[in-house]
Amino acid sequence: MKKDFISIHDLTRYEFFELMDQTKKIKDDPDEYRKKLKNQVLAMIFEKPSLRTRMTFEVGMLELGGKAIYLSPSEIQIGKRETVEDVAHNLERWVDGIMIRTFGHDNVIRLAQAASVPVINALTDLLHPCQAMADFFTLKEHKGNISKIKLAWVGDGNNVCHSLMFAAAKAGCKMSAAVPKGYEPNPEIVRLALEDGKGSDFELIVTNDPLEAVAGADAIYADVWTSMGQEAEKEERLKLFASFQVNEALMSKAKDDCVFMHCLPAHRGEEVTAEVFDGPRSIVFDEAENRLHAQKAIMLALMGK
Ligand code: CP
Ligand code: NVA
Repeated sequence: MKKDFISIHDLTRYEFFELMDQTKKIKDDPDEYRKKLKNQVLAMIFEKPSLRTRMTFEVGMLELGGKAIYLSPSEIQIGKRETVEDVAHNLERWVDGIMIRTFGHDNVIRLAQAASVPVINALTDLLHPCQAMADFFTLKEHKGNISKIKLAWVGDGNNVCHSLMFAAAKAGCKMSAAVPKGYEPNPEIVRLALEDGKGSDFELIVTNDPLEAVAGADAIYADVWTSMGQEAEKEERLKLFASFQVNEALMSKAKDDCVFMHCLPAHRGEEVTAEVFDGPRSIVFDEAENRLHAQKAIMLALMGK
C-alpha cells in the first residue's frame, strides 16, 4: 500500500524516531543519497506563497536524483477549475509523488485518498508537519535528547503549533502553549496529541500566560500572528497578540540556554523583537536548513524503492 505524509499523528513513535535518524544520515552524507530517487518526479501544488517549502522540496528532489515541478496558485485552482479527485487522477499518471500546500485540510485528505502515488502535506490551515519534523530534528541537534526537553509556544494556536504538539507527543517531551483567549489550539488536535503521548512523559499545558509557558523552557517558539489566509484579521490580531511578543524579558524567564525558534517568515517588532530574532540564541536558520534534510528523509520513506 502506498504511504502518505499528512500528519505526524499518523506516524508510530518508532517511525517518528526513524525519520529523525534518517534525517541525520542524509544530512551527514548527502552524496550517499544522490541517486535514491533517480528519474522520479514530484508535483508541487502551491495554493499559498512559499520560500522555504518550495526551495527545500525542489532542491531535495534534485539532490536525490529526481525532479520537482512547481504548480503555482493560479494554475490548478484545486476544487474550482476541477475537483480534487480529478487532479489526483491526472497527476498520478505522470508523477511519482505529490506535495500540496493548500487551505482546507480536507483537500489533502481527499487528494491522498484519490491518488495512487504518495501525497505529502506541505501546510494546511490545520497542520504543518514537515516544519515540525525539521524543528524536532533541529532541537535534537541543539539539545540532544528530545524526550527530555520543554518546548514553549507563544502566540496563535495555529497550524505550526498543532504539528509541534503532535511531534512533542511522539517525542514524549513537555510542551506548553501560551495563546490569547479565543486563539487556543484546536481541541480535537489537543485530544489526539494527549492520546498519542500516553505511556510517555508527554505533558501539554495550554495557558493564556506567556510567563507560565516559558518557565523552565529549553526552547521558545514563535510564529506570525496572522497566518496566510487571515490577512483581513491583521489589525485586530496586532492588538490582541501585543502581550505575546517574544523579547529579551520573556527569554530571560526561561532556562539560561533556552533557544529561540521560528518557522519563518518572521515579522521583527511584532511576534519577536529584532534583538531576539537576530541574537545569539536564535536557531531559526538551522530550522530552515533542516527543512531540506528532513523532507529528503520523508520523500525517501514514501517514494524510495
Ligand atoms: N516555514 C515555511 O513553511 O516557510 P514558507 O512558507 O516560506 O514555505
Ligand atoms: N502559520 C503560518 C506558517 C507559515 C510557514 C501560516 O500558515 O501562514
